[in-house]
Amino acid sequence: MKITSVELKNFRNYSGSKIEFSDGLNFIVGANAQGKTNLLESIYLTSVGKSPKHVKDKQIIKFNETAGKIDLNFLTNSGSKNIKIYLDKLNKKSIKVNNLNVLKLTELVGTLSVVYFSPDELKLIKEVPEDRRTFLDISISQFDKNYLYNLLKYDKILRQRNTLLKSADSIVSKKEQLNLFTPQLIETAEKIILKRLEFVEKLKAEATKIHSIITENEMLNIEYSYKKTDLSIKEDLQNQFNKNLDKELELGFTLIGPHRDDLEFSINNTDAKLYASQGQQRTIALVVKLSLMEVIKKEIGEYPVLLLDDVLSELDNSRQNKLIEFVNKFQTLITCTQIPNINLPYNTIKIENGSVKTC
Ligand SMILES: Nc1ncnc2c1ncn2[C@@H]1O[C@H](COP(=O)(O)OP(=O)(O)OP(=O)(O)O)[C@@H](O)[C@H]1O
Ligand SMILES: [Mg+2]
Repeated sequence: MKITSVELKNFRNYSGSKIEFSDGLNFIVGANAQGKTNLLESIYLTSVGKSPKHVKDKQIIKFNETAGKIDLNFLTNSGSKNIKIYLDKLNKKSIKVNNLNVLKLTELVGTLSVVYFSPDELKLIKEVPEDRRTFLDISISQFDKNYLYNLLKYDKILRQRNTLLKSADSIVSKKEQLNLFTPQLIETAEKIILKRLEFVEKLKAEATKIHSIITENEMLNIEYSYKKTDLSIKEDLQNQFNKNLDKELELGFTLIGPHRDDLEFSINNTDAKLYASQGQQRTIALVVKLSLMEVIKKEIGEYPVLLLDDVLSELDNSRQNKLIEFVNKFQTLITCTQIPNINLPYNTIKIENGSVKTC
């Protein structure tokens, strides 16, 4: 996929600007606080429907304005497409794909495929399991709509089950009702776990290759926390639910299932979360995102667009060059304060105070 242009109206510090991109490498360059990250955020928003910064839609409208707009054109194997997002202080945002209204975010996801990396992505390694599950869920949803529907279904059954576990009903009545909810939960849980296991295997295959190119001596491993047994996933989960029934009734929430699972990263067989250096963790997070580009390409038949925010300043020259060589094969938008010395063709977009400066 290739983004050809994005027009921003009252978005963050942009009053009204049209930014055009070329194939391959695009450096978005400028001093601090000029709007480089904001530009990538606007693109991410058209892909996923939400900001990567977990902010409210109201907060991304330009200060003192009541409405904003993102208008993005891109090319895919199946032709040129357009996404518009209308932001309004008083109403929910509205979205159009090729000028047709999109009523649910689930319909938008997968239209424009992007992979986003910012220094914040270190949370993938360092922070809580929820961040890693979000990574899995957003990644798989980009190429598998059924997965997204199963997630929503699972979430609904889980909430109902937790409400029941917390309710003031008698234990006998709760157990009776759980006999209805638990099999439904297990059925959807199995589909989610299977898909995640399959995805992690593919990601791992790409990541070990890319990681060894970038780091030479380090061996990266990625594992999903659910481990298959001789039993089917359904039987195994049912056993776990049987064992934990009293504990669940006591605590009032569901203890088993993909909403509790995690992704484990290790370097040379040691847990990366606990022992890897900051630089090693950053490299893993970056490698995971580069691997995701390859996995999605194999799934949908074309590369997503890679969005790299502030990645260069954190890498030494050798890693910078290896990265640039690697990302040159698809469209990449990289923000930086200074363009590095490279021997490959690239496009420069200078950003100053929420506007494009012609070079
Ligand atoms: N809703 C908003 N309305 C107007 N301006 C905003 C809004 N939200 C953020 N800004 C401003 O946008 C400016 C640019 O932010 P951005 O994060 O894009 O900078 P940057 O070019 O990526 O800088 P750096 O090199 O430091 O990462 C900030 O100074 C911020 O105050
Ligand atoms: Mg920035």
